Amino acid sequence: MTDARQFYGRWARLYDALARLPGVRSWRAAAVDELGLSPGDVVVEMGCGTGANLPHARRAVGPEGRVVGLDVTRAMLDRARGRGDADLILADAARPPLAGPVDGLLATFVAGMFADPAAAVDGWCDLVRPGGRVALLHFAPSDRTWARPLNAAYRGFVWLSSTEKRRPSSVATGHRRRVDTAHDRLRERADDYRERRLAGGYLRLASGRVNYSSVR
Ligand SMILES: C[S@@+](CC[C@H](N)C(=O)[O-])C[C@H]1O[C@@H](n2cnc3c(N)ncnc32)[C@H](O)[C@@H]1O
Repeated sequence: MTDARQFYGRWARLYDALARLPGVRSWRAAAVDELGLSPGDVVVEMGCGTGANLPHARRAVGPEGRVVGLDVTRAMLDRARGRGDADLILADAARPPLAGPVDGLLATFVAGMFADPAAAVDGWCDLVRPGGRVALLHFAPSDRTWARPLNAAYRGFVWLSSTEKRRPSSVATGHRRRVDTAHDRLRERADDYRERRLAGGYLRLASGRVNYSSVR
C-alpha cells in the first residue's frame, strides 16, 4: 500500500467535512445500494475513513444487522465513532483481521492507494459469501469536454494524498491504473459485474456478485 496514514492523520477533520457534504451523500447511498443488502446482513467497509458511508450501511442492514468499518488511520477512525453504530477496526485493509463470510463489502476511494490492488480486491472477495456483493467507488478523470479544469483538480487531489514524489500527472496516471486494476479484478471475480459513471463522469461505481472463493 502507499502509506497514506500521515496525510489522512493530518487532514482528518477537513476530510470529514468534505466527505459528508450534502452533494456527496447521494454517491454514498448509491454505492451502498449496489450491495443489495437486507435487514440482518453483515457488511464491511474497507478504508472507511471518517465513517461517511456507515449510516447508509446501517440503514440497509437495520438494527439487527452488523456494520464493520476498518481503516489504517487512527484519526480517521476517531471521527467515525458513533456513526452507523459500527464496529470499528484499526487495521490494514490489505490484511484484514476478519473472518468471513460477510454479505457485502464496500470500499470507496481506497483501492487506488494499494500497491497491489488486485490482491486487495481478491482478499476482499474471499471474505464475501458466494452470492454476496462487493462495491467499489473511485474518482476518475472525466472524458467530457467541459471537464478539463476539474480534471486538473482531480490530478492535484490524487497528488496531495499520495506519498509519491513524482509529477502530479504521473501520480494521477498511476492512481488511474491501480483503479483500473481493482475494477478489472472485481470483474473477473463477479458474475454480474456492472459499472456506471456518476457526478458528470468523475466517479466510477462498480459492483459485482462474488461467484467463487480463491481461498484454498
Ligand atoms: C480517500 S479516504 C476514503 C475514506 C472513506 N472510504 C470515504 O469514502 O470517505 C481513504 C481512506 O483509506 C484509508 N486507507 C488507506 N490505505 C489503507 C489501508 N491499507 N488499509 C486501511 N485503510 C487504508 C485512509 O486511512 C483513509 O481513511
